[in-house]
Amino acid sequence: MARVGFVGWRGMVGSVLMQRMIDEGDFAGLSPVFFSTSQVGVPGPEVGGTASAPMENAYDLDALAAMDVIVTCQGGDYTKAVHEPLRGRGWAGYWIDAASALRLERDSLIVLDPVNGDRIERALESGIRTYVGGNCTVSLMLMALSGLFRESLIEWISPMTYQAASGAGAANMRELVAQMGAIHAGARNHLDPASAILELDRSVGATLMADAFPRQHFGAPLAGNVLPWIDSEMPGGQSREEWKAEVETARILGLADGAVPIDGLCVRVGAMRSHAQALTIRLSEDVPIDRIESLIAGGNDWVRVVPNERERTLQQLTPAAASGRLDVPIGRLRKLSMGGRYLAAFTVGDQLLWGAAEPLRRMLAILRRSGRISVE
Ligand code: HSE
Repeated sequence: MARVGFVGWRGMVGSVLMQRMIDEGDFAGLSPVFFSTSQVGVPGPEVGGTASAPMENAYDLDALAAMDVIVTCQGGDYTKAVHEPLRGRGWAGYWIDAASALRLERDSLIVLDPVNGDRIERALESGIRTYVGGNCTVSLMLMALSGLFRESLIEWISPMTYQAASGAGAANMRELVAQMGAIHAGARNHLDPASAILELDRSVGATLMADAFPRQHFGAPLAGNVLPWIDSEMPGGQSREEWKAEVETARILGLADGAVPIDGLCVRVGAMRSHAQALTIRLSEDVPIDRIESLIAGGNDWVRVVPNERERTLQQLTPAAASGRLDVPIGRLRKLSMGGRYLAAFTVGDQLLWGAAEPLRRMLAILRRSGRISVE
């Protein structure tokens, strides 16, 4: 029975991964071992009604080396501290990682099997043992557009993102709700329809700019606001989140660097969960919109084309509607007035599912199915 070590399983992504694995019965036939960086010896979670053993030390290379597979959602610093020493001592197990640290390494592959299942198969055959989930917005964009990429119909894309608070972490989600609460508390006396609207407006504006307004994690108000910068600064003016779009897409699809330019602005908005993005796509040819829709719809089993109609858009194409679902809706599909090769699209998806946890649990399932790890 394969021994599968889990690290960082209580954080935001790790918790979603655990829940998905329980829902899908993924633990059956495996021997899970739970690791911790801070609570060694404390009992691990109950899985399938069975209590698990006390947690092992996530920095103990001997304990890690006894695993056939390690699945980590602990973050990039952990990966950097542990992966290389573990490989250095000859560990040849499968490393499945949510963090970005190893995404561009020569002997790793970014996994998104509905889109690059063939590349995963080839990587397994060639002996690659490190598999990494992609950036959330990149994975969601590719889930939405895989049908067009498959036909080589995309010349370039400019994605403008609307990323939810949960992409920044659990503390940021709490801060967003605290900000909403502070705005309401300050405006409570101005909500009567008979009161002067400018008083309400002034109250909200003053609350947002007050020193006491909770902004420790975002560094600025997110509620009642948008923040047009995500992650660190890169040379050339991009944010790191923006830089990932083209680089990771090429890596996932096996494209030459620069073959399909992808660049736009990444923006944090006050949604709790699910990232959205507005895409401007230059097509390699002027394909009719109904053909575009059917190619997109046929891209994989999860993409859903939402007709470009007001009501259905408002009901189906929002972060609130997409949260907790594996479907990846894409809509607002229409040719822009710039010409028949310019396509507009808006897509949204749960970044904690396809954007993070789902490709990892599916990679583990691929290892099982292919007989590369044993199940009882
Ligand atoms: N970088 C993403 C965000 C998290 O900040 O929303 C998911 O990769």
